[in-house]
Amino acid sequence: MTTRYILIGGTGFFGSALASELRARGLTVVTVARGSRGAPLQPDVRLDVVRQPELLESILETGDTIIYLAGLSPLKRPVGGRRRYREVHVTGLRAALTAAVSRGARRFVQVSALGVLSDCGAAYGETKARATALLRSVTARTPGMLSMVVEPSVLFGNGSEIIRALYVASRLPVLPLPRISAQIRPIHVSDAAKRLADALTARKLPERLELVGPEPLGFHQLAAAYLKPRGTRVVLLPHSLTRLLVRVASHLKLPGAPAELEGMLALDNAGSPPQRPDELIAFTRWAAESGPRRR
Ligand SMILES: NC(=O)c1ccc[n+]([C@@H]2O[C@H](COP(=O)([O-])OP(=O)(O)OC[C@H]3O[C@@H](n4cnc5c(N)ncnc54)[C@H](OP(=O)(O)O)[C@@H]3O)[C@@H](O)[C@H]2O)c1
Repeated sequence: MTTRYILIGGTGFFGSALASELRARGLTVVTVARGSRGAPLQPDVRLDVVRQPELLESILETGDTIIYLAGLSPLKRPVGGRRRYREVHVTGLRAALTAAVSRGARRFVQVSALGVLSDCGAAYGETKARATALLRSVTARTPGMLSMVVEPSVLFGNGSEIIRALYVASRLPVLPLPRISAQIRPIHVSDAAKRLADALTARKLPERLELVGPEPLGFHQLAAAYLKPRGTRVVLLPHSLTRLLVRVASHLKLPGAPAELEGMLALDNAGSPPQRPDELIAFTRWAAESGPRRR
């Protein structure tokens, strides 16, 4: 039987790179998403996992591998706040998992995020961790079903949220930046897609997969690595002012504002150094040579 890869959230930044990588390896992929207006790609199956859970069973088949990528940004508070994070990260995953068990799917993969904890104080992380606990408990009770939890650090590449924000900032001659030294290991989306595709096609599915790049960087180092080659002078704010800004931003309850920044910055988003780092694209080199440039 041919394994089909059902990518829920397969039209997004990571999902579309993964779909291309799996298809390039000759594998069968079905992308599932709502098909939001203005999205660059349309899915093979248009479906809202939160509002139309009853439709999921009709698209799944025995032996499928389901990869749950639907997720919300930790950088922008969604309309509906914590409830919305819960809906997309937990309720949607529960619906997909229930349909997967009922249809006899073989493997279920959750794309979570590096360092998230069930009590981290940020709804993004807490709901991701809750969904992982749910997945583990359901797979433990379901004979024949395997699961994997994928934990990326920050993904970058043309079109990523972080690069879009930095591109806008690069129009300024000078940018004051908060001194955020929390470490991340940014990984290029194509490298992340290859490493995940390798894990999916390996003889044994790992239970957990960290997706990390070769360079540990603080957020302000990442921003400076992108902005300086584009002629934007970066001025680092003092620690005291940074702390104040982070605290104020964390308590803003406005849709689109950074959500619960304090909790997110306290997470370990660097993980362990990757295997075979030489094969991976380094952020600072990519930012200097290949990212989009202002005119
Ligand atoms: N990007 C990063 O740096 C990063 C880092 C760590 C972890 N992650 C995780 O990786 C996953 C993918 O991230 P991404 O950057 O690719 O996100 P993205 O570009 O925002 O893509 C999200 C995808 O989910 C779909 N989706 C959202 N709500 C849905 C719903 N209710 N029903 C069905 N589909 C829905 C979206 O399509 P429609 O809007 O058309 O439905 C889209 O295909 C997320 O879970 C994210 O938390 C990302």
